[in-house]
Amino acid sequence: MKSTANWEASVPATSDIEQLKPHLNKQEQGQLIQQIKDKLAEQNAVLVAHYYTDPILQQLADETGGCVSDSLEMARFGKASSAEKIIVAGVRFMGETAKILSPEKTILMPDLEANCSLDLGCPAEDFIPFCDQHPDHTVVVYSNTSAAVKARADWVVTSGIATKVVEHLKAQGKKILWAPDRHLGQYIQSVTGADMLLWQASCIVHDEFKADALEALKQKHPDAKILVHPESAYTVVKMADVVGSTTQLINAVQNMDAQTFIVATDNRIFYKMQEAAPDKTLIEAPTGGVGASCTMCAHCSWMAMNSLQGILDVLENGKNEVFVDEAVRVKAYESTQRLLDFAASLKK
Ligand code: 13P
Ligand code: SF4
Repeated sequence: MKSTANWEASVPATSDIEQLKPHLNKQEQGQLIQQIKDKLAEQNAVLVAHYYTDPILQQLADETGGCVSDSLEMARFGKASSAEKIIVAGVRFMGETAKILSPEKTILMPDLEANCSLDLGCPAEDFIPFCDQHPDHTVVVYSNTSAAVKARADWVVTSGIATKVVEHLKAQGKKILWAPDRHLGQYIQSVTGADMLLWQASCIVHDEFKADALEALKQKHPDAKILVHPESAYTVVKMADVVGSTTQLINAVQNMDAQTFIVATDNRIFYKMQEAAPDKTLIEAPTGGVGASCTMCAHCSWMAMNSLQGILDVLENGKNEVFVDEAVRVKAYESTQRLLDFAASLKK
């Protein structure tokens, strides 16, 4: 089932978001960064940033004792942190997840409009009745969903752990209702052979990577390894040497015995990949075939809404606080905490 909500038309192009940002010279940027550092320290606040945000923000999170990571680690870090205030530089569901796990903390986001096509493509009012129609299925949702959708789920998973959770459920003979990402669902189904009913939403950024153009690029770089985030179409996933979460793809660049990598995910991840392996060559996977144009162009426009000025504004004014209805939060906590407990059991 696919949501019928008409949000697609209002998604901004990444270039439009970037053009709206003030162009700061080095000195102005330095001043802004210093102001943010002072405020973070004064307010016992910490910055948690996703790998897809501007490298300036990733560097700032690193320098101030925050965290730069995938969505699983962002959730873990926020919960474990002793900070009273968490600034989440990412998209809406990441802020909500932080609130679900840490209701006593103040969660702020540089821009509350920063959304995700997977979240928008799976509205609770459509999803809940769909689940009710399939009571014999275990409901497993990707973390890229609203708190209300998580509250209806038995399990929340991230791309880094989804396959393991589904294998675990399959071993118990469970049938799975999977939402919202159809590509990730198809990939997990192909790996695990589990009985999965798939919701039909997708990521508008990863949807732009195209298999035929990737094939042509690979021919030009025959020794390159192909790294693919599983939100990409299955035709692209099938060409990958490594399929994985953002952290798993960074680890692949660092650990694989190859010099060149073609990367099919948001290109802001190159900052951490290059930091982990400065001598390796990274090439962006193509976002279209011959004559095609792109809207996201390998960078999520919602992730691009996070800026230095936005962070300073929320620290100065306390605006953009994330709230989750308490009854919803308590239910969403169960399915989200199940993910963290399962991840911890794997580490043992
Ligand atoms: P990760 O959990 O791999 O960081 O993915 C989050 C996301 O939104 C990717 O598009
Ligand atoms: Fe959502 Fe795709 Fe952006 Fe990730 S890259 S936040 S899945 S729209």
